[in-house]
Amino acid sequence: MRVGVLGCGAIARIHVAALRTIAGVEVTAVADVVPRRAHAFAAEHGIPHVFADVELMLAGGVDAVTVCTPHAAHEAGVLAAARHRVHVLCEKPLANDVAQAKRMIVAAEGAGIRFGAIFQRRFWPAAARIRAALDDGRLGPLISGGVVARLHRDAGYYAEPGRGGVLMTQVIHHIDLLQWWLGRARRVTGHRATLANDRSIGVEDTAGVLIEFASGAIATVQAGTTFRPGLGVQVWVSDAAGRTAGVTEYPEGVGFTDVWTVPGEPPPILRYEPGRTADLPLADVHDRLAPFHAVQIADFVAAVRDGREPAVTGRDAFHSLEIVEAVYASSRTGRTVELG
Ligand SMILES: NC(=O)c1ccc[n+]([C@@H]2O[C@H](COP(=O)([O-])OP(=O)(O)OC[C@H]3O[C@@H](n4cnc5c(N)ncnc54)[C@H](O)[C@@H]3O)[C@@H](O)[C@H]2O)c1
Repeated sequence: MRVGVLGCGAIARIHVAALRTIAGVEVTAVADVVPRRAHAFAAEHGIPHVFADVELMLAGGVDAVTVCTPHAAHEAGVLAAARHRVHVLCEKPLANDVAQAKRMIVAAEGAGIRFGAIFQRRFWPAAARIRAALDDGRLGPLISGGVVARLHRDAGYYAEPGRGGVLMTQVIHHIDLLQWWLGRARRVTGHRATLANDRSIGVEDTAGVLIEFASGAIATVQAGTTFRPGLGVQVWVSDAAGRTAGVTEYPEGVGFTDVWTVPGEPPPILRYEPGRTADLPLADVHDRLAPFHAVQIADFVAAVRDGREPAVTGRDAFHSLEIVEAVYASSRTGRTVELG
C-alpha cells in the first residue's frame, strides 16, 4: 500500500514512523504548503516524492493519505482525497467546525473511501477496558461522568498560529472518550473564556461544561491550560449500581486506570510519577502517545485492506466536535444547545 502524508510537522513524524512498521506499507510521498519543509522532511525520512500541493500528490498515485495539517486545513485534505478516491486518515479535531466536518463525511461516503480519524487515547488499555466492560455488561447503564483537565500551555505555545483552545485541541480527546462510553449527547451548556493569557491568543484557556446524554446521563467537563505545572486529566464514568471507572492521564500522554470499583475484579494498579514538578516538553508527550497512534494507524491500514470501517471513523469523530462547538455557541448566547 502506497501512503502519502499531508503536512510535515511534529505529528507527521509519528505517522511516518508508525506506517513504516507495517508490512507492505510504503510512505511514497509527502506534501506541504511550505516546500522547504516538505523537502527537508522527505530527505530526513527517505521519502521519494515531494509535492507542494495535495492535488498533485494524490494524482501522482497513492492508495491512502494521512492528513497532518493544522485543523483549518483538514477539510481541504479530506475533500481532495475523496475527489481522487484515496482512503484518508485525518488528525483530530476533525475540522474547525461542524459544517466543515459534515462536508468531509458526505464527500468521503459519496466517494466510497475509508475515512478514519485519529483519537489514539481510545487505544490506551485503560480506556479500552471501560468500553469492554460496558460491552459485556460488567459496567452500566451509565448515569454520570466527568472530565477534569488541569493542563499547562505557555505563551510560546499560543504564539504559533492556528492553535485551538483547551477544548478544541486538548480536551476534545477526553470528550471523545466520554461520549464513546456514554453515547450520544443531547444537550450542552457551557462557558469558555481566556482568563490567564492575553486575550489576543484568540482561544479559550478555561472552560466549564454540562453535558446531558440521550440516555439521561449527566457529565461535567472542567478544562484549563492555566495550571503550573500541569496536573494531568481525569476522565471517569459511573453507573446506576454505583460502579465507577476512571482513567487518569499523568504525565500527559500516559493513561492509566485510577478508579475501578467493578465487584469481583481487582482494584486498579495505580501508576504515577511522584515527585514530578515540571511539565513534559510537548515532544515527550507525543513520544508517550506514539505507541497508541501506531496501533490506530495499523487499524486503519487493516480496515482499508479488509474492506471494513476503521475503529474510529470520521462520523465517530464528528460527535466530540459537535459537543465542543455547542459549548462555544452556549457560551456566546448564554443558552443550552440542543444537539440534532
Ligand atoms: N493526536 C494527537 O495526540 C495530536 C497531537 C498534536 C497534534 N495533533 C494534530 O495534528 C495536526 C498537526 O499538528 P502538528 O503539531 O504536527 O502541526 P505543525 O504545525 O507541527 O505541522 C503542520 C504542517 O502542516 C503544514 N501545512 C499547513 N497548511 C497546509 C496545507 N493546507 N497543506 C499542506 N500542508 C500544510 C505546515 O506547513 C506544517 O509543516 C493538528 O490537527 C493537530 O491538532 C494531534
